[in-house]
Amino acid sequence: MIPQNTIASITEAARIEEVVGDFVTLKKRGVNFIACCPFHNEKTPSFTVSPTKNIYKCFGCGEAGSSINFVMEHENMTYPDALRYLAKKYNIHIEEIDDDKGREERQARDSLFIINHFAQEHFQHNLQHTDEGKSVALSYFRSRGFTDTTIEKFQLGYSIEDWDTFTNAAKEKGYRLELLKKLGLVGEKNGRYYPFFRGRVMFPIHGLSGKVVAFAGRTLKKDKKSPKYVNSPETEIYNKSKVLYGMFLARQAVRKQDDCILVEGYTDVISLHQAGIENVVASSGTSLTPDQVRLIKRYTPNITILYDGDAAGIKAALRGVDIILTEGMNVKVVILPEGEDPDSFVQAKGKTEFLNYVKEIQKDFIFFKADLLLKEAGDDPIKKSAVIQDLIKTLAKIPDPIKRALYVRECANLLDISERLIITQTNKIKYNQIQKKQNQQSLKEAQEAHLPASTQDLAEIERIANKKVVKQETTGLALCERDLVRLLLEFGEEFYDIDYYVAVYIIQQTLDLPPTNPTYNKMVQLYREHLEEGKTLSKDFFLEYQDPKINKAAIDLLSSPYELSENWKIRHEIFVTEIVKNFKPEVENLVNRYKLRWVLKMKDENQEKIKEAQKANDIDTSLALLKNQMQYEEWIKQLTTKLKGVIIR
Ligand code: UTP
Ligand code: MN
Repeated sequence: MIPQNTIASITEAARIEEVVGDFVTLKKRGVNFIACCPFHNEKTPSFTVSPTKNIYKCFGCGEAGSSINFVMEHENMTYPDALRYLAKKYNIHIEEIDDDKGREERQARDSLFIINHFAQEHFQHNLQHTDEGKSVALSYFRSRGFTDTTIEKFQLGYSIEDWDTFTNAAKEKGYRLELLKKLGLVGEKNGRYYPFFRGRVMFPIHGLSGKVVAFAGRTLKKDKKSPKYVNSPETEIYNKSKVLYGMFLARQAVRKQDDCILVEGYTDVISLHQAGIENVVASSGTSLTPDQVRLIKRYTPNITILYDGDAAGIKAALRGVDIILTEGMNVKVVILPEGEDPDSFVQAKGKTEFLNYVKEIQKDFIFFKADLLLKEAGDDPIKKSAVIQDLIKTLAKIPDPIKRALYVRECANLLDISERLIITQTNKIKYNQIQKKQNQQSLKEAQEAHLPASTQDLAEIERIANKKVVKQETTGLALCERDLVRLLLEFGEEFYDIDYYVAVYIIQQTLDLPPTNPTYNKMVQLYREHLEEGKTLSKDFFLEYQDPKINKAAIDLLSSPYELSENWKIRHEIFVTEIVKNFKPEVENLVNRYKLRWVLKMKDENQEKIKEAQKANDIDTSLALLKNQMQYEEWIKQLTTKLKGVIIR
């Protein structure tokens, strides 16, 4: 454990602009600094660093905090590790006081690192300084074209064939066999221990700090009985799905080139490095995991996947890519000529020709996928429609609406179908996704969470509950929901965002807050049912609906002006030409007003219930109600902040 006073001196010493500046290029803007946010994908900077407040905040994604938070988030460190990192940066000595659990865990991890370090040096020594190593392993690496510098840089090694050399050396050092076994360095057969990697050339796998977390060993035998590569098992220090081979050596280059080349094999990484292409990592034969994608995303939003030209390579390129898209990354695919892998190809062609090839052949993933699937489908209409469905699913995974819209357009051309059809389908998928998410954290859950309050809380709750925050008119909600339904009818089919219907936004946002007027309620419900099918509804639908109440309401709505928003002067023509610019804030504003009215109403009703409960001396109920009241206050505060500058009438 790090003592409190040390933590205090670390937080005092850490200057937010220096800490952030090590990872992000900051630009001075007044008293603050700005940059493009490292935590989400953006083109215009909304990430702000305030030296006076000693904090950072992103106005785009909401990430905010201190130097410690930044290091934890950005470098994926635990709290104590972030403190240690900062202490090192500011030359503050940490004298850790040990609590038992923390100490044990740290010691356990440390001993695993120490043993791996020993093993790495041992294997390296074998390679360079033993007869067996030199004759079988070093000559092998050289025959593959690896230079001494490269062999050194990647700390390559060799594990002696016999049963004793490694085990004896480890025993001599006093390392416990059980830890060696845990790390996968030794195996056990008939009560005897043997070196797991015996007779293999060794590739240490490094964590981000440069420590060895695991090994891969390649056989030198031609027979197909034993697997070509074997790997260390997962341990406290090695989580396979979070590590990318080569990231420790690649990260500077990845940041600088603003692109990460992804290959399959260890030797591919090594050969590319040797050729002077350093922004390269390997997924090591498994398909890419979300954690690995996030690891790359810390350094760049761009990935170039480089795979072998055989069928397996192409399949591998398709796998996992939807994950990359979900993370909002830009993915390009390069397929190498048949029979080549990145290692053989770069060794044959050299850096310049290799990079030229990549530049020329690289294809945006979506188009790569579309092309490939379409070719497979041929003229078969059923297969073709399956391809379209598949692509639409992929498109729906792109979080950035502008990017998505561009792809939709291109794909519509490619598939020879209408853009509108694709948009309708992607909206359907997105609608269902978001609805799922909303159901999970619905309002009801929050209402039902009546946490027991201490008596101390009680005074505080009461104070807040009795405070009048916003003066409410009784007609407020009625007017507001009228405007909302009108907006839905009139502009529901327009775009809220570049490919996102206004209707989808309105309905999602108000799922838990249906209009109180039964006719409006019915109309919203009808709309929702159709959206679930990916369809929007025209004005005519409501004007011609078989329920006269709904016809009348629709006529009424469509023939009267908006009640609430004075600045709602933009006419339909403008909406169409400048959708994104003008429409979004207005819609958002109205929806937030509507929500605010609703919460105010719930709060008022709740207030009445509190009074009754207090009259009846029902302590439990009034406590629960007071908790609700606090939640309402919180929502009101949030909504009022969002509506800042908008006067509530
Ligand atoms: P490859 O078979 O393409 O090997 O497997 P490679 O990297 O080109 O190796 P060389 O050039 O023959 O030495 C690609 C990756 O798949 C994983 C390894 O990470 C390898 O680098 N792999 C492959 C295994 O984990 N086990 C295996 O048995 C084979
Ligand atoms: Mn290879």
